[in-house]
Amino acid sequence: MTAHEIEEYLSPMRHEFADPRSLILPALKFAQGDSGWLPAEDMAAVAEATGFSQAYVESVATFYDRLYVEPVGRRVINVCVTLSCMLRGSDEIFDHLADYLGLDGEGTTEDGMFTLAKVQCIGACDRAPCLQIDSGEQIGPLEPADATCLVDDLREQPAPARYER
Ligand code: FES
Repeated sequence: MTAHEIEEYLSPMRHEFADPRSLILPALKFAQGDSGWLPAEDMAAVAEATGFSQAYVESVATFYDRLYVEPVGRRVINVCVTLSCMLRGSDEIFDHLADYLGLDGEGTTEDGMFTLAKVQCIGACDRAPCLQIDSGEQIGPLEPADATCLVDDLREQPAPARYER
């Protein structure tokens, strides 16, 4: 991802933001779409395209959970662990998925296919317990076995053309 590509992406929306700092977030999301996370050179390109320092851009990137400054799996499985989901069994879903993926809690599988993460409310409490793959639809209510079927389905799918996280 080059600064020029990011500038082109931002160009139609520049007038929508009174404060140019507001461009950093869409620029980071756009850059992340390429490889699924934000290597330092992508953050440098965002800094160049937006006119802010790389340190400032990195401070924005590290503030948000869904911007990844370390490599993550091809798909990120976000299990909601907030109250409604927790009361309806999200811990069992998470533990079952971690076992199934060979993980000791949150983390990324050795083959780089999946990152498993605990997240706070994803806005679908009526479907608790639920999870979200990348920034897709919330999926629930789930039983532990449903969650592992979901992983099997995802494993069969090709890598996304762009990563929407
Ligand atoms: S508590 Fe899980 S979606 Fe709201």
